[in-house]
Amino acid sequence: ARTRPGAQDLAGLRVTVSAGGTREYLDPVRFLGNRSSGRQGIALARAAADRGAEVELVAANVDASLLPEGVQVTAVETTAQLDEAMHRSAERAHVLVMAAAVADFRPATTNETKTKKRGDGAVAPIELVQNPDILASLVQQKASGQVVVGFAAETGDAEGSVLEHGRAKARRKGADLLAVNAVGTDRGFGDVPNAVHLLDAGGTDVAQGSGSKDDVATVVWDAVVRLLTQRDP
Ligand code: CTP
Ligand code: CA
Repeated sequence: ARTRPGAQDLAGLRVTVSAGGTREYLDPVRFLGNRSSGRQGIALARAAADRGAEVELVAANVDASLLPEGVQVTAVETTAQLDEAMHRSAERAHVLVMAAAVADFRPATTNETKTKKRGDGAVAPIELVQNPDILASLVQQKASGQVVVGFAAETGDAEGSVLEHGRAKARRKGADLLAVNAVGTDRGFGDVPNAVHLLDAGGTDVAQGSGSKDDVATVVWDAVVRLLTQRDP
């Protein structure tokens, strides 16, 4: 379904969207992963194509049946592969969107062969190391005029509300736009309604939306268009 038939306001732009969730391998058959389906990134990619952009979707472990038509798909599995693909795209993309759920940690070592149980029943701990922050490095290496968009799923806790955490993250990451979702027991996972606040790099609200992942995509692309128009009216 085309969200805005006829609105070709992204024509002439090359955009790259990451989607899905990265996997970090313990051995050839086992990984640490997350539950991201990739639907938000796919909705963003599809909406951008519908609005006239040339779209690359960097898809981390996304079910093939969900992949949209009319976009170039680069399949990745690990955070290192996603990092590589995004930085390669950054050389020519006007807009970069990090909608993927990136594993924060990976096993310090990956066994080349399948890990066997030990005869004595002893269990080895898994040592983890932190992954690079792809969004932060895309922001750091941003070309002049390029727009970088991040996503953040937050829960409120004793330290602060969803939006307080979101504002702190927006300032920390420095992305032109950070889309902050409230996640809880019934929001943000799977195909359920979503509410989103778009924050600028200073943590200020620039737009809000609620509804489906398609609605979120519309809010994000509208804000990107406003940003590009402000910069280059
Ligand atoms: N992200 C990234 N590289 C990472 C981790 C996250 O590029 N290693 C991106 C995500 O794709 C998303 C944004 O950063 O666009 C925010 O992700 P999130 O997990 O909310 O932020 P973190 O910095 O990992 O903070 P937290 O400790 O809350 O998980
Ligand atoms: Ca994280």
